[in-house]
Parts: sequence; C-alpha cells; structure tokens
Amino acid sequence: MAALTAATAPAKSLLRKLLFHSPLLPKRSPLRFSISATTTATYSTLRNKNKNKNKNKHEKTQKQKQKADLLLKRRTRSERELDEEGFSKQYGNDNSAHVPVMLGEVLDVFASLSLKSFVDCTLGAAGHSAAMIQAHPEMEFYVGLDVDPVAHEIAQAKINMFLNKDSGSSTSDLQAHTLLKNFKNIKTVLHDIDGKHATSGVHGILMDLGMSSMQVNNAERGFSVLSNGPLDMRMNPQAALKAEDILNLWPDDEVGRILRDYGEESNWFSLQKKIVNARSTGGLHSTKELVDLIRSSASWTRGGRQGWIKTATRVFQALRIAVNDELNTLKDSIHSGFDSLASGGRLAVISFHSLEDRIVKQSFLDIINCGEDGGCKEEMGLYSSPKFDKEKEAWIKQIVQGQNATILTKRPITPSESEERLNPRSRSAKLRVIEKI
Ligand SMILES: C[S@@+](CC[C@H](N)C(=O)[O-])C[C@H]1O[C@@H](n2cnc3c(N)ncnc32)[C@H](O)[C@@H]1O
Repeated sequence: MAALTAATAPAKSLLRKLLFHSPLLPKRSPLRFSISATTTATYSTLRNKNKNKNKNKHEKTQKQKQKADLLLKRRTRSERELDEEGFSKQYGNDNSAHVPVMLGEVLDVFASLSLKSFVDCTLGAAGHSAAMIQAHPEMEFYVGLDVDPVAHEIAQAKINMFLNKDSGSSTSDLQAHTLLKNFKNIKTVLHDIDGKHATSGVHGILMDLGMSSMQVNNAERGFSVLSNGPLDMRMNPQAALKAEDILNLWPDDEVGRILRDYGEESNWFSLQKKIVNARSTGGLHSTKELVDLIRSSASWTRGGRQGWIKTATRVFQALRIAVNDELNTLKDSIHSGFDSLASGGRLAVISFHSLEDRIVKQSFLDIINCGEDGGCKEEMGLYSSPKFDKEKEAWIKQIVQGQNATILTKRPITPSESEERLNPRSRSAKLRVIEKI
C-alpha cells in the first residue's frame, strides 16, 4: 500500500489499467471487486491528501502575498485626507457616475507647476480634466483624448461647461481640444493641433488607465463579469478585434498564452482546453457563456463564489488587455508621452493591476537611465533633493535621479484608506510620476 501511495500518476494509471482491464480476470471476479473497493478508497484518500496539501500551500502563499501587499500598502498610502462629505455629496447617490481615482493626489502632483499646457490622455468622464482646468487658471492649452466615443461625448460636454466662454473668466482664454484618439498617437496629435507645443513640449500629462464606470456598467460593452452581454470588450468600438474572435478563432496556444500572461491565471491550461472544446458546440458569444464555462470549472478552482469570480475577473482582464493591445500601447505611450514633455514637465500614470504597474515602473527606469545618445548611465542616485519644497510637495517621499529625468515616486502612491472605503474601484490604483529635467 505504501508503494501505491508513493506511486506517481502515470504509474497509478497503469496499475489501474492492469487491475481493471486485465484479460486474465473474469468480468465479475470477486477478486476484482475487492481490489477495486480498496483501490478506490486509497485513491480517494490520496486525492484528498493531495487536495489538502495543495489547499494549504495555496492558502500559505495567499497569506504571504496578502502580508507583503499590506506592508507595501502601509508604506505607500497617500497621507492626503479625502473630503468625505464633499465626496458623498458629489457621488454618493449616483452609482453610475465615474468617480475620478486619486483626484487630490493628481492635483498635488501638478500643483507647484505653472501649468500652461496639459494633456489628459484618458478623458473618461473628464473628472480629472475638469478639476485640473479649474485648479490651473493659467492653463492656455488643453488636450483631452479618449478612444471611446461615449466617453468623448460626455467629457466634451463637461469641458465646455468649464470653458465659460461668455463669462469672461480666466479659463475663457483656454484653447481646449477634445479628440477621439488613442493616446499612443500623442506626438502626432500635438503636432497636428499645434506645431509649437509639439516642439516645445507640454507641462503636464496624465494617464488614468483601465476602464471607466460608464464602460463597465454598460453590459453591451462586454466588460462586466456580473452582467450578460456580447463578448466585445473593445474600448474603441471601431477596432476590428473583439473578445469573441480570440475565444473562437485564435490558435489554442495563443488563447492559453493570454490567459497565462495577461490574466496571470494558474489554471490557464484547463481553461484553454475548455474554451477550445466549446468551439465544437458553436463557440462562446456572450459574457454569460464564458462565465458559465469558468463556473463549471469551479470544482477544481478554489474558493466557491469568490473563487470563480476571481478567476472570471482574471480571464476578463486577459481578454481586455489582448483586445485593446493595452500593454504594448502603454509601453510605447509612456516613452512618447515623456518625449512630449517640456523641460520641468511631469507625466503622471495611474495603473490598476500589477502588469501595468510593472511596465510604468520599468519604463520610468529606462527613461532616466538613458541619455540622448541612447547610452545608459550606470548610477542612479537616491536622495532628497533640495530642489523640491518639502512643505509644498509633501507627497514626494523618495526620488530616483537620472540623467534626463527624475522619478518623483520611488514607490508608487496608493489611495488613502478613506478613498478605498468610499470608492472600492480605487483599491488597486497606483500612481507614479516622472519629471523631465
Ligand atoms: C479610467 S477611465 C478615465 C477616467 C477619467 N480620468 C475621469 O476622471 O473621468 C479610462 C479611459 O481611458 C480610455 N482609454 C483606454 N485606453 C486608451 C487609449 N489607448 N487611448 C485613449 N483612451 C484610452 C478609456 O476609454 C476610458 O474612457
């Protein structure tokens, strides 16, 4: 029995074949019956033991990860107090409204600059844009971009309100452009609007990544795990590729690759097989069909409802990243964004998952290490520079000094506890900032 317990999976399967399918054994042999009962019991014990072992291992890793996350959170939490009353007044009764994440922190990042020009790469509902325009009456040139026509329309109306064209307020001098464009084209967009800003650079750029509440709340867009809709997931509805094309047409390995690399899903291979098998019965066409497929695998994924929701969230994230080519776009755009800054200008990026944050962090490091000739400077100084006014810029804790830029957030800034409580969508947000020398 000990040997059986120690047997490897292929050996066990061979043993089972020999015991159950041996031509030497009569079909209804009592011997076969007695061996089968014992063997079944042993397998069941084995399976349970392995299950418990894996469960304990998984729980231990999860606990370690949670502990590390908590520690990092404690170190990076924003110290800024959220105006809870104002927040509740503005967003409390409206579940559909998009609430700008880390708004106070974003305002702090640009507060010390004379922000004559600003580009919001991700307009959404223009929450950040509107607040930035209000906070910087000196602003002369504003550009807001989004690939989503719904966001673009909402944002344009909001920005127009702040322009107050007839009121004679200082913002009336603002030259504002809201465009239905991908932020990866920031250089050409600036060039096409105004060659001057393309050459001299702009003073501030913001990228607030991820989806808006308008996108998630509209089931027809296919972003939501919890409401049924078509498997679309395009941020730009004119784009050719939809999530269902990936699920129903892409090569098996590619489906697995995105689940593994973009969803960081440990059960990627089983899911890949299930998705590919579903093709023989017509494929997957709605978010419910995909969620049901994931739920039907819940016996081997852990954690009941929370388990399948987490798996579904990872699968949806993977598809969304692939449909919108989000990671490549981000990598390229951080570099083009940085190139589009004027000297002293700042680029702020809010990311919502570790894959994005890793790209932001690495791209910033690449930028500060490389000189104009492309040669990389070996040393990175880490110090508190007298250049920054500690009183006015208390949010700057540790910087990383490079040759042509300074990373102002050695560690990312994460939302305050009160913001996380009032706006759970902000929980995974990380803000990183770089300043051009
Ligand atoms: C989180 S929302 C921005 C919310 C906004 N900051 C606000 O305060 O309302 C992200 C927006 O970025 C847009 N977006 C995502 N990828 C984009 C890209 N590559 N180019 C332009 N817009 C993009 C999405 O369509 C979405 O509207």
